[in-house]
Amino acid sequence: MSDPDSRTGKRYATEAILAYLDRIHAGHDTGLEAAFTTPEREGIPAIMVSPSEGRLLELILRMIAAKKVVEIGTLVGYSAIRMAAALPAHGKLWSIEADPKHAEVARRNIAAAGCADRVEVVEGPARDILSSLEVHGPFDAVFVDADKGSYDHYGTWAEANLRQGGLLLGDNAHLFGNLLDESDTARAMRRFHERAAQVFHSTCIPTPDGLLLAIKK
Ligand code: SAH
Ligand code: DHB
Ligand code: MG
Repeated sequence: MSDPDSRTGKRYATEAILAYLDRIHAGHDTGLEAAFTTPEREGIPAIMVSPSEGRLLELILRMIAAKKVVEIGTLVGYSAIRMAAALPAHGKLWSIEADPKHAEVARRNIAAAGCADRVEVVEGPARDILSSLEVHGPFDAVFVDADKGSYDHYGTWAEANLRQGGLLLGDNAHLFGNLLDESDTARAMRRFHERAAQVFHSTCIPTPDGLLLAIKK
């Protein structure tokens, strides 16, 4: 049972409630299930978004009828397959991944999920790759989920390469509870938030580790 909320005195979701809601609203077809369970089978850390967070990404992209999306940090392709579900037949997701093993496993999962026509895994460090994607822009959404000390840089890139009304999304926006630390990574994450608040319509959705959502003005 969760602790009561300090403001309302109410108790909110338990693990069992969240598991029920993942099952009802965010269940897996075979492609998603294969991707979600790949990390444990391949000795890769299971650090993808949760089923409900992945479904939220999909729904947000559906809301804006997104056609061109950039993801920074593919891992094994779980969030990419989720987001691809929102794309029309000629839509495209470019997903950047620095780790060659992750990129290879992701390509396999994306193909098995039937998304290879809409998702390209672009291999390399995002700071090097991003400029090569600019020719395809402006983009409808950019989802940042890679090295946390570079979010600031990725946010600035998104600002320049999103269309008006396009979305900046950022996972781990609470920085695992370390957002207010005096580390370079925490300072970079705070700059990401503060710039988003200044130049976008922004909020931080209180998922377990925070999901920044911002609309380009
Ligand atoms: N978005 C994925 C999870 C990404 S985990 C999902 O929810 O399914 C973060 C990934 O970012 C890891 O695979 C890691 O290898 C990759 N990464 C870390 N630093 C990077 C960088 N500088 N450029 C590109 N990818 C990076
Ligand atoms: C880590 C990265 C993530 O994007 C995440 O959602 C959880 C953990 C990590 O690098 O440990
Ligand atoms: Mg993450």
